Amino acid sequence: FGAAQVLVASNRGPVSYAVADDGSLRSKRGGGGLVSGLSAIGPESGALWVCSALSDDDREAVRRGVGEDGVRMLDIPAGVHADAYNGIANSVLWFVHHMLYQTPLEPVFDAEFRSKWASYETYNRAFAEALAEEAAEGAAVLVQDYHLTLVPGMLRELRPDLRIGHFSHTPWAPPEYFAMLPDDIARQVLRGMLGADRLGFLTHRWADAFTACCERFAGGLGDTRVGVHGLGADADFLRARSHEADVDERMAALKEEIGEGRRTIVRVDRTELSKNIVRGLLAYRQLLDDRPEWRERVVHVAFAYPSRQDLAVYRDYTAEVQRLAAEINDRYGTPGWRPVVLHVKDDFARSLAAYRLADVALVNPIRDGMNLVAKEVPVVSDAGCALVLSREAGAHEELGEDAITVNPYDVVQTAEALHEALSMRPEDRTERGKRLAAAATALPPARWFLDQLDALRGGTGH
Ligand code: G6P
Repeated sequence: FGAAQVLVASNRGPVSYAVADDGSLRSKRGGGGLVSGLSAIGPESGALWVCSALSDDDREAVRRGVGEDGVRMLDIPAGVHADAYNGIANSVLWFVHHMLYQTPLEPVFDAEFRSKWASYETYNRAFAEALAEEAAEGAAVLVQDYHLTLVPGMLRELRPDLRIGHFSHTPWAPPEYFAMLPDDIARQVLRGMLGADRLGFLTHRWADAFTACCERFAGGLGDTRVGVHGLGADADFLRARSHEADVDERMAALKEEIGEGRRTIVRVDRTELSKNIVRGLLAYRQLLDDRPEWRERVVHVAFAYPSRQDLAVYRDYTAEVQRLAAEINDRYGTPGWRPVVLHVKDDFARSLAAYRLADVALVNPIRDGMNLVAKEVPVVSDAGCALVLSREAGAHEELGEDAITVNPYDVVQTAEALHEALSMRPEDRTERGKRLAAAATALPPARWFLDQLDALRGGTGH
């Protein structure tokens, strides 16, 4: 047995490495709900985070024995990792749960898919073995996401003494869509997850879809219990961080770009197919057509940060976002007014600056596990912003009441929703903004994490 009492497993860990010009290794800490959640239990708790080396520089760090206390990075061979992460997790499982396939031509589950699936099994096995090695007797293990669906079952076989949880940060596909997967693979995914004592989802909708898939393909849930934990925004961190000097600087620069006295429609996303950035731009163009009174008086501030650029569809999507933004600027722009301010270089301080300046936040994903931007903007915006929110985002379950709801495919309706949001009376906007911020922070990351841990330790399970 190992020494760790609490273990977290995820593909992307809290730290990454870069080899500097002088050959030394620099480390960089990441953010996000899991990082702040885990920090809630403190370093003395004997927690260990098992994650994957994601780059050659990360692998170099593992080989040189460079690392951090409380983190174990796995040096999975680059080819195996690429097939598991790009080939299966991001191209198949992500597409299934977000229902992204253009079904007349895809998916095609051929021999190449089977060979990538074998890598996905190898990669999951590497995690299961590392966790089995590190975990103390009876320890709690919290496995994260669609990258690691087979780990609970594999780990259960190696270490029946452990309490195993799995949390899905994505939506879960309805059974009719999940049924696209080859039958044996569908069963393997579900049975892998059902190796856990407890499964967590962000909303009831995704938990119910999972349960329905198990009924159809795996003979039900068995002894595994399913819970819902709707991760919220970290109000204390966001409020403090968004008033630091670098954010003020970015605000000044952004105000220059926007121009005096104009309203802002803000969106911040990874350039991700499911985020629906293109239809957001089409809706904004529709607004400028339908409601010409807004020309010169509004700017769409869109930050679309590169993501999963190893996949050709993501590169094409990024190019389409840039093309359409340029087209709108060419067609409607005037010497003093650039209708779309698009930035693609990741910059967290600038994102916070945009949140602070937001009059309207546009969050219109075609499907999204939660969408934390929808929860963060109302907390940070200086004047309380109006939220245009897709009914297909998990966050809609909690924020729907005070948001303006849209069908993400309907750009005419979305344009009208933007108009309504821009025209909202200031006192209504402030009131609704306050209620949005309260709902968005109901379950901050620390509590979200501790709730899962308590539920896992308290239950009877296997
Ligand atoms: C989603 C997934 C996370 C993932 C994140 C970023 O939110 O649920 O597991 O970390 O996207 O994606 P990436 O592929 O860059 O890790």
